[in-house]
Amino acid sequence: VQTRAEGAVTASVDGDTRLATLTLQAPGPVNKIDVVLRDGLDGALAWAISQPGLRGIILASGHADFCVGGDVDRLFLERDPAVMMARVRALHACFLRLERCGVPVVAALAGSALGGGLELALACHRRVALGDPSVRLGLPEVTLGLMPGGGGTQRLPRLVGLGKALELVLQGTVVGPSQALQLGLVDDVQHTADEVLGAARDWLVSGPAAGQRWDLEGHAAPPPGPGTAEAHALVAEARERLQRKAAGTLHGPAGALEAMAEGHALPLDQGLDVEATHFVEVACGHQAKDMLRTLWYHRRAADKHAGLPSTVSLGVQENIHRVGILGAGMMGGALAWVACRAGYQVVLTDVRPGAREKAGQRFHALTEKRAGHLGEGGRAALAARLRVVADAADLAGCDLVVEAVFEDLPLKHAVTREVEPLLAPGGIWASNTSALPITELARASAHPDRFVGLHFFSPAEVMPLVEVVRGRATSDETLARALALCRRLGKTPIVVNDGYGFFTTRVFSRYLLEAADLVAEGHDPARVESAARAAGMAVPPLQVFDEVSLSLVRQATPHEEAFTGRRRDTAGFALVCKMVDELGRHGKAAGAGFYDYAEGKRQGLWPGLRDLATPRPGHATQGELGHRLLLAQAVEAVRALEEGVLQRPRDAEVGALLGIGFASCTGGPLSYLDRRGLPSVVAELDALAAGHAERHAVPTLLRDMAARGERFFADGVVPA
Ligand code: NAI
Repeated sequence: VQTRAEGAVTASVDGDTRLATLTLQAPGPVNKIDVVLRDGLDGALAWAISQPGLRGIILASGHADFCVGGDVDRLFLERDPAVMMARVRALHACFLRLERCGVPVVAALAGSALGGGLELALACHRRVALGDPSVRLGLPEVTLGLMPGGGGTQRLPRLVGLGKALELVLQGTVVGPSQALQLGLVDDVQHTADEVLGAARDWLVSGPAAGQRWDLEGHAAPPPGPGTAEAHALVAEARERLQRKAAGTLHGPAGALEAMAEGHALPLDQGLDVEATHFVEVACGHQAKDMLRTLWYHRRAADKHAGLPSTVSLGVQENIHRVGILGAGMMGGALAWVACRAGYQVVLTDVRPGAREKAGQRFHALTEKRAGHLGEGGRAALAARLRVVADAADLAGCDLVVEAVFEDLPLKHAVTREVEPLLAPGGIWASNTSALPITELARASAHPDRFVGLHFFSPAEVMPLVEVVRGRATSDETLARALALCRRLGKTPIVVNDGYGFFTTRVFSRYLLEAADLVAEGHDPARVESAARAAGMAVPPLQVFDEVSLSLVRQATPHEEAFTGRRRDTAGFALVCKMVDELGRHGKAAGAGFYDYAEGKRQGLWPGLRDLATPRPGHATQGELGHRLLLAQAVEAVRALEEGVLQRPRDAEVGALLGIGFASCTGGPLSYLDRRGLPSVVAELDALAAGHAERHAVPTLLRDMAARGERFFADGVVPA
């Protein structure tokens, strides 16, 4: 065996088999696609193919993962399109040299291959993966505001067909090995890392052709063929899906779509050029930077609980084994499943037999839908962790109780008094309230230091965020244990201080009420809805107002005023009151709200709505309406920061994107303000405050920052 080290890649050639192995082993903990790896690959490849009688190449990794993707820091910092273009072209050229090196090349994927890492594997002629559930394969770039830039938009459609490729790339889907095999992303799955290498070797020894299958004589490419009606239809459908999902606001998936649509009918080299053009435009733009900052850096910091008390730093244990859930409604039912999936023993109770029964059925349905990969034994073990009980006394001995009964302060006090004494020694009480101050709730507690808010979002089995709320007396230890629980549940936490509506509910209710205000001011309700979508909001405000229910907001707002001293007596709130109190339009569940409903199905906006408005709309463009809706939320986020509800700006961004569907194209409410420029936002708010109401009053923090020329997030600096 002869070996040669070329920086991050080591090549070896077996004298007997004449097979080369190129092992990616970048100096850091993982392989990522950067200049060092690229140069290493080029050097190692050049050396290997210069060896006489070479029969094939295995591309493998010396790290646990195969390759986890691009160098995010470089992508985040680089703004010069010319520099970015040069790097992309160099990467394409490197992958092409590998693909066209003259001998067959196989990727041995004994660990995850993501983004640029999978694109490298796609430039090989065959892929063998390790059949371990920890192995993740996919092109998740669009979920971070980017698009594939290492040939993925060109090679994937040629490999698996345009339809599947569009789906995978535009959703950023990441799959395990067995699904990857089904999809055709990999060709073979083996049980051990040695078997992966063995299978790769066997394939090379069998004397396969040296080239991509789509270039081979007589190989039928997966349908549809380039330029066919079917191909056009797939592209049109994908375009429509993007439109439906984020109203075309996201540049990453849009660029990927165009690159796949154009490239499908072009020779590979030209297709790669098309991809490069779109990639550079996307990756150098503001949107990619703002989304990367929140969805990569800030989310990872939140997942690491950076800057927060931890069980390790405090020298304590999570010590939560049995979880009690009080209230088996919409939230409690789903939370029971989430906790069982994470391995906790769960006791679920509700006063209503119907709720208990329904929660049981729901548990079963969730298991069927989301735990198929566990196999029969795994699913049975999951079900065995749940105990549904009629008597709250059976919650005795739980290490944590999550209270998810109706949003009603006296009721929550009553159940706290009744059930808290049943906790195991040192047990924690958590409320899933969406707005009631934790300090108020904890008045009924004998141990307010072990009382915390765990605000989950619906549907809890899907939504990644937990807003952890610290009451005035909540201890560091309780917080650290709650965070450890969040980690086991697989949730991303933001930790906020107490205050009515915390952060997320407070900002979200501003969204709803700003929409009501716009309608009350005479703006066309349909335009308000479409403006919100066009601005990138996940759901239109009047639609979701109906789902939350007008009566809930109607009831909660006076509470909020009482708790906070903030006045909410806007024209929009008056309109909501009128709809609830005089017209009986309580929302979706009641069959009438901003929309009309027939058999629970949304029909159209209620025609009578326009008559409730002042018929004096100053004309506003769709962009202006959308901006008002985002601005209202962003200003509320600044207030939450100013009042100390938010401890750090990053939580505003993570919370808004992951919890309440704030326009992800902006990176978050504070990023949005930064991008608009704080001085111009202040001037605009001053003008609005003059015309409308105190709700547009500029927070002092914002005015001061604008005056000092500051921003919430420095541009061009990798967040700490
Ligand atoms: P829900 O109305 O679906 O369920 C509440 C359940 O609590 C009902 O099944 C009821 O029978 C039960 N319950 C009432 N009194 C009880 C008692 N004394 N002992 C045991 N069970 C009792 O309500 P949902 O939507 O699940 O909300 C629960 C809590 O979660 C509320 O505080 C709400 O603000 C909060 N929340 C709700 C979200 C949502 O999207 N629905 C999101 C985040 C938080």
